[in-house]
Amino acid sequence: MSELIDPFGRKIDYLRISVTDRCDFRCTYCMDEDVSFLAREQILSLEEIVFVAQTFIAMGTKRIRITGGEPLVRKNILWAIEVIANTPGLEELTITTNGSQLYKMAPALLNAGVSRINISLDTLKADRFYELTRRDKFQQVIDGIDAAAQLPFKRLKINSVILKGRNHDEVPDLAKFALTRGLDISYIEEMPLGVIHDHDRAATYMSSDDVIEAISEHYQLSPSTMTTGGPTRYYQVAGYENRIGTISPHSHNFCDTCNRVRLTAEGRLLLCLGNEHSKDLKSLLRANPNNALLLKERIIDALALKPQQHHFNLDEPPQILRFMSATGG
Ligand code: GTP
Ligand code: 5AD
Ligand code: SF4
Repeated sequence: MSELIDPFGRKIDYLRISVTDRCDFRCTYCMDEDVSFLAREQILSLEEIVFVAQTFIAMGTKRIRITGGEPLVRKNILWAIEVIANTPGLEELTITTNGSQLYKMAPALLNAGVSRINISLDTLKADRFYELTRRDKFQQVIDGIDAAAQLPFKRLKINSVILKGRNHDEVPDLAKFALTRGLDISYIEEMPLGVIHDHDRAATYMSSDDVIEAISEHYQLSPSTMTTGGPTRYYQVAGYENRIGTISPHSHNFCDTCNRVRLTAEGRLLLCLGNEHSKDLKSLLRANPNNALLLKERIIDALALKPQQHHFNLDEPPQILRFMSATGG
């Protein structure tokens, strides 16, 4: 079987697929209220997404994560999830969601073959939730998390982007929320993707070391060797089975172990979250439907563009103009 190895010798066996740039939230660090989304014809059809996913699996991809925008607002997404999850060769199909649809979709996701879900939750206060997401869906998200937590998913993880002055005082409470429900939690340093207004990224930066210090006042942490192959550095928590993690693009670079590429909603194969290096797959797919050979060639060409690491600088205007929602994080 062919394997994808990048120019720096890293094995690429993980694909993140953004199935839509649309979202039912407007998180202040992610997008403006009046953000414009791609037109329907600009984004890949679900059939095209499945074809790309299955081609990657034939090239050695073991894990696929479905992201957005908010992936669960895409019509018929369960169909695509089920087909991809059941493709021989794939070891796990995971999703990242804002949690707004889980109260009704959690059982269907389990049945479709999703093994792990990462759910964004930055605050435990309803009024703050509204300030951060610009949507009044706090209770709906909590109900969704609770619905998923009752089901036998392999693992659920909370993702919290920590912003000084906005939610940093909730770091220990978010840990408690996760640990008492049997969930893992990752604390994320914000990345400068897309030009957004009404939010000062440099002023709200909080390092993962400061996050760990705040948690250590309440819990006894020890570094864990556990990894999903992703950027999260995990800590074991004394007295709990679940883990606390940090994603630290600024303070602890993790690019040397990068194992992933991304398919954007509009069908670009993006080689790194923090760079613009990409190859257009959509035009190839539309000119040559179902041609796996040509697609494989294009994927191999693209891999040569994978940079060694991302370069984020919160003190400069964002170098990357696309929003996180176009890429799926
Ligand atoms: P696993 O791979 O299953 O461990 O999940 P994850 O935690 O990597 O994925 P998730 O979709 O929950 O993303 C959490 C955060 O990690 C988001 O803010 C992503 O943008 C960020 N992230 C994931 N992969 C990368 C990466 O390769 N580079 C950077 N800079 N950030 C990443
Ligand atoms: N920097 C870091 N994380 C971000 N997310 C969205 N935008 C950003 C950003 N600019 C987070 C979401 C979600 C995950 C996929 O990425 O909150 O948890
Ligand atoms: Fe939507 Fe996620 Fe962006 Fe929030 S961070 S607006 S939930 S895509």
